[in-house]
Amino acid sequence: MHQLNSKLPHIGTSIFTEMSQLAQEHQAINLSQGFPNFMPDKTLMHYAKEAINSHRNQYAPLGGLPELRQKLSDKFYRLYHHRYDWESEITITAGATQAIFTAISTLVNQGDEVIVFKPAYDCYEPAVELYGGVIKPVQLDAPDYKIPWEKVKSLVTDKTKLIIINTPHNPSGYVWTKEDFESLKTIIRDTSAYILSDEVYEHMVFDDKTHLSICKDKELAERSIATFSFGKTYHVTGWKLGYAVAPKALMNEFRKVHQYNVFCVNHPLQFALSQILEEPRHYMNLSQFYQQKRDRFLELVKDSRFKFVPTEGTYFQLADYSEISDLPDTEFCLELIKKHQLAAIPVSVFNQNKLQQGCIRFCFAKTDETLEQAAEVINTI
Ligand SMILES: Cc1ncc(COP(=O)(O)O)c(C=O)c1O
Repeated sequence: MHQLNSKLPHIGTSIFTEMSQLAQEHQAINLSQGFPNFMPDKTLMHYAKEAINSHRNQYAPLGGLPELRQKLSDKFYRLYHHRYDWESEITITAGATQAIFTAISTLVNQGDEVIVFKPAYDCYEPAVELYGGVIKPVQLDAPDYKIPWEKVKSLVTDKTKLIIINTPHNPSGYVWTKEDFESLKTIIRDTSAYILSDEVYEHMVFDDKTHLSICKDKELAERSIATFSFGKTYHVTGWKLGYAVAPKALMNEFRKVHQYNVFCVNHPLQFALSQILEEPRHYMNLSQFYQQKRDRFLELVKDSRFKFVPTEGTYFQLADYSEISDLPDTEFCLELIKKHQLAAIPVSVFNQNKLQQGCIRFCFAKTDETLEQAAEVINTI
């Protein structure tokens, strides 16, 4: 039999699967993978049940349900002052993950260079590799994870096809500033680079920060595909629904790939989401909801030996454990699970060459009870 040549020889099981499995085995409190352990809004579940019990169980249109895309178009205009045409510039996808994969496969050809900020969410690079792209990493430094613009500038060449950005940033929580967007714009103005802007945590931004979407900037929006996740915004990560927006010509190419990948995505749940979108309070109140959780968690662990810089966005909080242990972060996380029944994610897995920054990531999208139990453990370490 022919020997199969792996296209991704160095990729194993993702750290999220690994840590969640271990958490189960050791009955650990799971602050590792990013998902809420509480129920979604009752109204949304009601809409979902109604949609399944109606005539909405056959294929949806390729781009997504018109009523959902129309509402998203209005939402973009209201929040970011950019009007995406619902018919030709918005596509509903199987989570942001499929939107990201499709965007990368639409844009990246053999030998194209792709700039990725590290630590980086784990689905970007394998997709780039599959299409023959060359990763140009930019490592961000703890504890503030600011963008080193001189470094970015030095990496932008005629071969730069794509720059992948993520704000608010997983895992650091860093929220891009106006100056970041200005720097990006200046650097790429005379190039033909595209941008993939991963904004799945757009509604989780704290204190005096605001989410600045790429689509707020006309010049940048013209060369960008931006991706979003209903899973994150409505506490339904298991529904795997998200969307991508882009100017018409770009979206046209995106759809060619989308068409032969999934063609369309879950019909009844798109309908349920189109109904809940009528009430903006669900996403308008989300930052406040998660800020309360972040503050509660940080208050509970303030006397622990971990060091915390309050996260600016997302539902992740980094914790510096350098006063507790010299172990590399993955080993430290294994010890946390096995000895203390607490699961977290080692940040080095998202870093360039698994750089150690003495940091682990906790997810605080959990009930108050879970956060209290976790804090009790954290305070004994
Ligand atoms: C930065 C980032 N992008 C994309 C995703 C994937 O989103 P979805 O669950 O909608 O596929 C996640 C999920 O954790 C994420 O953290």
